[in-house]
Amino acid sequence: MTLLVIDTDPGVDDALALLLAWGSPGVRVEAITTVAGNVPLGQCTVNLFRLLALRRPEPWPLVAAGAEAPLARPLKTAEGYHGADGLGALGDWPEVEARPGPSGAVELLVEKARHHGARLTLVALGPLTNIALACEADPAAMRRIGRVVAMGGAVDVRGNVTPTAEFNVHVDPEAAARVLDAGLSLDLVPLDATRRATVTRAELERALGARPGPVATRVLAFTRHAFAREGGRLSLHDPLAIGAAIDETLMEWEPARLTIGSDGETRRTPGPPNCRVAVGVDTARFVRLLLERL
Ligand code: RIB
Ligand code: CA
Repeated sequence: MTLLVIDTDPGVDDALALLLAWGSPGVRVEAITTVAGNVPLGQCTVNLFRLLALRRPEPWPLVAAGAEAPLARPLKTAEGYHGADGLGALGDWPEVEARPGPSGAVELLVEKARHHGARLTLVALGPLTNIALACEADPAAMRRIGRVVAMGGAVDVRGNVTPTAEFNVHVDPEAAARVLDAGLSLDLVPLDATRRATVTRAELERALGARPGPVATRVLAFTRHAFAREGGRLSLHDPLAIGAAIDETLMEWEPARLTIGSDGETRRTPGPPNCRVAVGVDTARFVRLLLERL
């Protein structure tokens, strides 16, 4: 059994990542924390509850809201890609009451790290603000986590928000730097890998057409905006991070030492490795796995 805690800024690809995790046999999503990123924190949390109401996963995860802003700079969001509400700007989502639990994200992350230790895989799908704050709150507990898998960075490829920076790291470079320095068992899934994991609208329609229902209908609806922005082919950034958490053999890994630039660049630097970087992807096997499980 793969035990997951997921930190996320839902967003369209975060939503696909959550549906992949919830649809994967032998995977237990015990807790989900939200972080400001693609859209402001409040909307991220509403979007998470929209997806929970849509999918009704078993078990129902603990939910905690986290950081409203990066550690040391104003929040930058990505409504242009994800839609004004972060989930395709559909306007017809059923009303939900976003009711996160009493704990904050940092408290919940640290509690799960203390309780599960090496049995836990923590997956970060947004800016690393919550993870950095948790490392500050209890560094020893966070270091005991089995794997921390983070979608972020552009190591040997162009960025997606500047020529040299990827969105999650660009939004909170200070958090990314602290996470790299925290001594975690960190597996980074950067654009170098995620750009190799894409799906066309036709492939998604074909796969979901085989399993009609409210989830299929809603997925095709909330991905429409992003498909239009990317010319009919969607990069599966966050779903690939969940794939890496579920089955690390989907990727080719390389130990690396990275440093974070002031704009969120992820640069190689001499010295002992501070993470593993996914440099290769078994794309066909991953896309098949994703389309079978949404
Ligand atoms: O650069 C891609 C990442 O930024 C993904 O996590 C996407 O959801 C956005 O948060
Ligand atoms: Ca994300």
